[in-house]
Amino acid sequence: MKSVLVVYQSRGGHTARIARRIGETVVAEGNQADVMDVIEADREGVDWDKYDLVIVGAPVLYGTYTKHFMHFVTKYKAQLDAKPHSFFNVSVVARTPFKATPEGNRYMQKFLQKSPWTPRDVKCIAGKVDYPNWSWLDTKMIQMIMKMTKGPTDPTTVIDYTDWEDVKSYARYCLTLA
Ligand SMILES: Cc1cc2nc3c(=O)[nH]c(=O)nc-3n(C[C@H](O)[C@H](O)[C@H](O)COP(=O)(O)O)c2cc1C
Repeated sequence: MKSVLVVYQSRGGHTARIARRIGETVVAEGNQADVMDVIEADREGVDWDKYDLVIVGAPVLYGTYTKHFMHFVTKYKAQLDAKPHSFFNVSVVARTPFKATPEGNRYMQKFLQKSPWTPRDVKCIAGKVDYPNWSWLDTKMIQMIMKMTKGPTDPTTVIDYTDWEDVKSYARYCLTLA
């Protein structure tokens, strides 16, 4: 039995759902999983010795990652590097097959180039368009991104682009890293 930490940052709750699905899959495969937000993990502390594998996830927000997330991976770089690990990012551009590859996802490339923590294993997951739950400004900004990438711009659109079976496969794959 493996003990797994899934630690994530989420603004709107979608990355949190993905993290929970990963945790549920890990448990369904006969292992133990803790699923924690980066702020909780930082403030409450992580018993790193407990874990055989760490899976880290964050959404892309305006082409980058939040300061809480970057703070977490910077502060705990050594602990993350000491364990088998994987990093997944969540973005709506990953709804197209090429941008769902680490090579084709410029936000993953940016992370690999600029983050103080360079994960050894990475995965790009398509996220959710949720205009009705976004502010007026966020909606306008994301409509612009969508226009450039030929995505939906209708402000009533709610589309979950995540392939949930692939999320489960990813969780099972991660278990092979430990
Ligand atoms: C404020 C904001 C900015 C975003 N910026 C981008 C972006 O630059 N590129 C992209 O592909 N997706 C972008 N997205 C889409 C998110 O990555 C996607 O909605 C994701 O599922 C959000 O996850 P969360 O609910 O865990 O925060 C953005 C979403 C929001 C709300």
